[in-house]
Amino acid sequence: MRVLFVCLGNICRSPAAEGILRQKLRKAGLSAQIEVDSAGTGDWHVGNPPDSRMRSAAQARGYDLSGLRGRQVSTADFAAFDLILAMDNSNLSNLAKVQPANGRAELDLFLRRYGLAVEQVPDPYYGGDDGFENVLDLLEQACDALVAELEGRL
Ligand code: 4NP
Repeated sequence: MRVLFVCLGNICRSPAAEGILRQKLRKAGLSAQIEVDSAGTGDWHVGNPPDSRMRSAAQARGYDLSGLRGRQVSTADFAAFDLILAMDNSNLSNLAKVQPANGRAELDLFLRRYGLAVEQVPDPYYGGDDGFENVLDLLEQACDALVAELEGRL
């Protein structure tokens, strides 16, 4: 099983989701069976580490994002991954535009898939520190539900 998280820049929301899911899979003993990656629909931050504000907010909760680097999503990802999870509606519609007809990946909106009270992960880039904490709260809840789904599918 291969899971890909996608946001706009691949420096805030999707790398945080990647780090959180990696740690939850480790704790569940599923790291060997499930691969995790993240990407952005935009190309501004290709090769860059996650935003320093997100790195420190994540680190404070025990998630190390320091080794991650930005990359742009591509059509090939629809063949390589089983599940592609978008952070907001804009990401989802941009992904739908590059989704090939015969793609292997299922494409979905991350929070909506798991029935959270909000459907989209807000972009924290231009806001304050509380925006990053809110993103981490949402991603932790949805990742718990995702791990439960993956456990059921294996
Ligand atoms: P992300 O946040 O999509 O969660 O990585 C953003 C990061 C950078 C930009 C926008 C959103 N930007 O415009 O550079």
